[in-house]
Amino acid sequence: MGEKKRLLSGVKPSGRPHIGNYFGAMKQFVDLQDSHECFYMVADYHALNAVQDAEKMHSLITNLVLDYLAIGLDPAKAVLFKQSDVPAHTELAWIFDTITTMPYLMRAHAYKDAEAKNKEINVGTFNYPMLMAADILLYDTEVVPVGQDQKQHVEYARDTAEKFNRTFGETFVLPKEMILEGTAVVPGTDGQKMSKSYNNTIPLFGSKDEVRDAVFSIVTDSEGKRPENVYTIHKLFKSEPEIEKLYEDHEGNYKALKDALIEDIEKLIAPMRERRAGFSEDDVKQVLKDGAEKAEKITSAKMKDVREKIGVTL
Ligand code: ADP
Ligand code: TRP
Repeated sequence: MGEKKRLLSGVKPSGRPHIGNYFGAMKQFVDLQDSHECFYMVADYHALNAVQDAEKMHSLITNLVLDYLAIGLDPAKAVLFKQSDVPAHTELAWIFDTITTMPYLMRAHAYKDAEAKNKEINVGTFNYPMLMAADILLYDTEVVPVGQDQKQHVEYARDTAEKFNRTFGETFVLPKEMILEGTAVVPGTDGQKMSKSYNNTIPLFGSKDEVRDAVFSIVTDSEGKRPENVYTIHKLFKSEPEIEKLYEDHEGNYKALKDALIEDIEKLIAPMRERRAGFSEDDVKQVLKDGAEKAEKITSAKMKDVREKIGVTL
């Protein structure tokens, strides 16, 4: 291992990204690719718990990779790969299943939430933390950048590494979460957390018109001189002194401020949108193919060790 710390994170292909996703997570992935040895995975087998339509899955995977290339993830710096291309993930998940108890998995927040909603829970959702533990541990990952909601899953990975090491001998590095909270919660157009599920997003790769419509729908019924919802979003795009001056100069003029916000969003998005359009589906395939080869090299060595440790190699 080099002097850079090894980092891995995964994203489920689940929909069109918005600026909350960008400032909350995606941007940091790009920022980290110089300081760390990065592995970014398309967690398609995790998504399969929810996306059970081949055409939809195909398109979601392609779009996620395009989004990442567009924001500046560089396959020459970071390994971009797809979980389903590297069979070691599901193989190791099975091995972890055998050293994990049901009561322990029943304590997972995601499982408890699903149960509280009386959902019919599939086995894949129940075992979710074990597949994620395999994702992380296969690469001797030291750092896992995730949102707060994924902290428990990283703890499961750490516990599972310890359990395996205790049972079969020192094998896995204990990973640690890196909680991304620079821009803790980006508000949506209605002032609540921006989220795909709330219909209040500003799309990251929307057309100019879509961005304009979204910005003009930002709720501004505050009594004050400053439209707080607009201001909070705008702060992500401009430095403190610049934005203070802008909001003083246009005090009370919500239309001018929204126009300024649209312009600033465009400045960030336009080059990314253009870059995105420059990649083809073949580029995506090539990136994933190269990534899978690199991932495979690491995981096959790791699995050789694991198989020997558990005694199935004769
Ligand atoms: P959504 O709520 O739109 O479904 P996801 O749950 O898919 O978003 O989140 C993907 C990533 O983006 C996560 O790391 C999450 O922490 C981050 N994220 C999502 N919404 C926001 C937001 N409004 N502000 C900051 N980060 C966010
Ligand atoms: N569970 C993560 C999420 O829902 C995605 C994920 C899958 C992941 N495997 C991972 C994140 C490994 C970090 C490391 O966002």
